[in-house]
Amino acid sequence: MTTPMTPAHAPSSASNRASAPGGASLESTRARLRAAGQEHVLKFWPELDEARRGALLAQLASVDLESVPGLVRDYVHTKPAADLRGTIEPAVCYPRDHNRADKPWDRQAYFDRGAELIAAGNVAAFTVAGGQGSRLGFDGPKGCFPGGAVTNRPLFGCVADWILAAQARFCRAGVVIPWYVMTSPGNHEATVAFFRANAFFGLRERDVMFFPQGVMPALELGTGRMLLADRHELALAPDGHGGSIKALAVSGALADMQARGVEQLSYTQIDNPLVRAIDPVFIGLHAFAPDSSGEMSSKMVVKAHAGEKVGVFARVGGKTSVIEYSDMPAELANRTDGAGGLVFNAGSIAIHVISTAFIARLNTSGSGVRMPYHRADKKIACVDLGTGQRLDPAAPNAVKLETFVFDALPLAEASIVMETDRIEEFAPIKNATGPDSVQTCKEIQTLRASRWLEKAGVRIPYKPDGSPDCVLEISPRTAMFCADLKAPGAIRLPAAVGNGASVAL
Ligand code: UTP
Repeated sequence: MTTPMTPAHAPSSASNRASAPGGASLESTRARLRAAGQEHVLKFWPELDEARRGALLAQLASVDLESVPGLVRDYVHTKPAADLRGTIEPAVCYPRDHNRADKPWDRQAYFDRGAELIAAGNVAAFTVAGGQGSRLGFDGPKGCFPGGAVTNRPLFGCVADWILAAQARFCRAGVVIPWYVMTSPGNHEATVAFFRANAFFGLRERDVMFFPQGVMPALELGTGRMLLADRHELALAPDGHGGSIKALAVSGALADMQARGVEQLSYTQIDNPLVRAIDPVFIGLHAFAPDSSGEMSSKMVVKAHAGEKVGVFARVGGKTSVIEYSDMPAELANRTDGAGGLVFNAGSIAIHVISTAFIARLNTSGSGVRMPYHRADKKIACVDLGTGQRLDPAAPNAVKLETFVFDALPLAEASIVMETDRIEEFAPIKNATGPDSVQTCKEIQTLRASRWLEKAGVRIPYKPDGSPDCVLEISPRTAMFCADLKAPGAIRLPAAVGNGASVAL
């Protein structure tokens, strides 16, 4: 299915009538705008042609104008503090070492039970790819950006390879792993076109579903006025990865999953080429651990240092939660245990398993899902209301409101956290250079591959600083896990990698 399942939030396309497709007139729209204190967005109305007038009315009809004054009051005129009421304790995690004396667990048993769910078609892959990728500065959906350290395989292709590998390995005959991709109105068409141009990376077209997430108006810093991207167009931005909870339901994706018998969604981000898009151990633990409600679980890595800019898992008022790094009280972030380790050391890597039943529950309880907004101050190109000229601000000029998927965690009955090794599965590309960049992503891919290859008996060259003197990439279709390389006769491996070589397996 390559069309938007239901473009519920997408700004509507231009109409040649000066009324929205739903019939909203200029008068009724002006009244809504006036009540919201946002009438300025009609400033250029007199000079717009009919098509642009229709487009503007349609866009305004899709925006919840009535909530704007409250948002301006709560998020523009103030920056709300995180709600950290109740005791804050470290989250209890399933350790990477499943033989650890204080919390042993049966990794193989959970692997087997997770594999069973995948085999039966109860698990889907879910990738959030609606972000604007502004830090990377790439012109196009981030999933089109090269992710493979040697092959430059696009990030979408890296996820597809994992799904294909998992499908071949775990699924019964005739069973597939469907893949749901959340886009946003701004990158939806380009994303679908990219999949088409790449023959869906080897997956069946009917098993890949795309749907756009919701959008929020960008609000001017200081005034709270909605910004215009053009004289006839509001500046809208995707409503954060937390928007996925609502978009899954309103787009029809959730109904599609239920019709296919999907019970669990493996939630991952598009920026990490090492991500295990479907991980049997994690899925098994989430679905069957005695302390999990099977609704929403998470993976963590141990924080590199107290100041690392990642959210931290904690129990807040008895509920598993993520505290954003900027909200974490310094005393807690720096607190150490007797051995000198960080007490709050569980860094979030935005990998979850979420049940379809939980998503359905969140969308039906009360007035539907209500995720808290987080404010980010951003530079947003806009039209100057005085001159009508386009402005490209050098400093942040707007408040962007986003919801975060981890805010659903405390809404689960009981939520578990599983530790993993960052070199094994966390190499995000956020920035063009520096931390979490293209370069660090290549280095982590190489480090992981060098570990795996060494364990399989291959000699790896090293630089004086101890890092591998080569660039390596191992496709999940060659080996999903380290042990796959060691399986006797499974893969023909070289005896050694040459100095400075680039090797893709
Ligand atoms: P980030 O928080 O890194 O945001 O998204 P981003 O938009 O990609 O990049 P910046 O902050 O503008 O540089 C983490 C993941 O969440 C998705 C992204 O596509 C990425 O996979 N995401 C983010 C959405 O799907 N929708 C959003 O509104 C925001």
